[in-house]
Amino acid sequence: MQAVILAGGFGTRLKPLTYTRSKVLLPVLNKPMIAYIVESLPEDVDRVIIAANYKKEQLEEFFGKNDFGKEIVINEEPKPLGTGGAVKFAERYIDDRFLVMNSDIISSLDVGDMVRFHTEKKAFVTISLWPVENVSEFGVVRIESDGRITQFVEKPKPEEAPSNLINAGAYCMERESLDYIDNPDRLISMEQEVFPRIIEDGRRFYGYRIEGFWIDVGRINSYIEVNKILLRRQGKRFLVGNNCEIEGELQDSSVGNNVEIGKESKAISSVILDNVKIGRDVQIENSVIGEGCIIGDGAKIINSVIGDEEEIGGGRIVKGERVWTKPIPEGYPDKQIGNVVRV
Ligand code: GTP
Repeated sequence: MQAVILAGGFGTRLKPLTYTRSKVLLPVLNKPMIAYIVESLPEDVDRVIIAANYKKEQLEEFFGKNDFGKEIVINEEPKPLGTGGAVKFAERYIDDRFLVMNSDIISSLDVGDMVRFHTEKKAFVTISLWPVENVSEFGVVRIESDGRITQFVEKPKPEEAPSNLINAGAYCMERESLDYIDNPDRLISMEQEVFPRIIEDGRRFYGYRIEGFWIDVGRINSYIEVNKILLRRQGKRFLVGNNCEIEGELQDSSVGNNVEIGKESKAISSVILDNVKIGRDVQIENSVIGEGCIIGDGAKIINSVIGDEEEIGGGRIVKGERVWTKPIPEGYPDKQIGNVVRV
């Protein structure tokens, strides 16, 4: 079996962190997000196709250095093709039944169990599902009691929603389902274009519910939240990487490698990436500090993101800001492209 991992997005909602890196290489508790996805794949997945585009050299470097015991193919798209287009573009590497995984979702999904469910139901496509409260922000499924999905309803009013279950970004598909995706020369959305077409054609389309937790690491708040959830699950209040000198206090925070935090400083509900130097009496709350940043004594950083290699002067107060003083990389979109469904 093969798995296609969608890893080519620009991750615009996570800028400026994604000006300098692929979103899927952002560390969660000091491990890149995409590593969680590859490790979650069942043993009988022999080939993993990384559908890449933006910052694909970083993905090549990462998989060159880390062995996951599976064949890894980095499949570069000539331009972003969207979630459906990227899967079609991987067709030549797919021999039979295959998985598709968004690489920006961290969850307790048991992928092997989803494949067993798919087999039992003799399904053509099975998608993972997660229940939400705010149905009007998502595409919601209409589902029969045996798990068969008969419709997707985009952003329904709560009283009109056919269920509270949304597409959770992991799919098991028969190879023939690729025939439902046009040859990609434009953005093709799996969710908005391909899946509705398969359902309309009366194919066996099933939903598999995830139990436990599920987080779409699309936004800064959810990026901070996923670090906190995993810390809690490990029974820890904070995590500190290698070679750090921490004199201040940490609460519900994750700290990368080679980080210094001075006396009287405090980081609460925050993520601090590698090679950061934080002075004395600094307060960091609900924020992300990018790699190689220098934060001067007495600074306060609240509800903010500091891009890589930025310097925040002593005493400065940064509140609700995304700090980036360098040029924006050429070709980086100024807004979401593709599935503009979530804000
Ligand atoms: P935003 O710009 O913040 O919406 O993020 P994104 O670009 O990552 O888009 P989104 O969150 O909708 O993407 C879901 C998953 O599909 C992520 O794992 C992306 O890396 C991936 N993805 C999105 N668009 C493309 C694409 O055009 N090509 C490939 N290969 N992957 C994509």
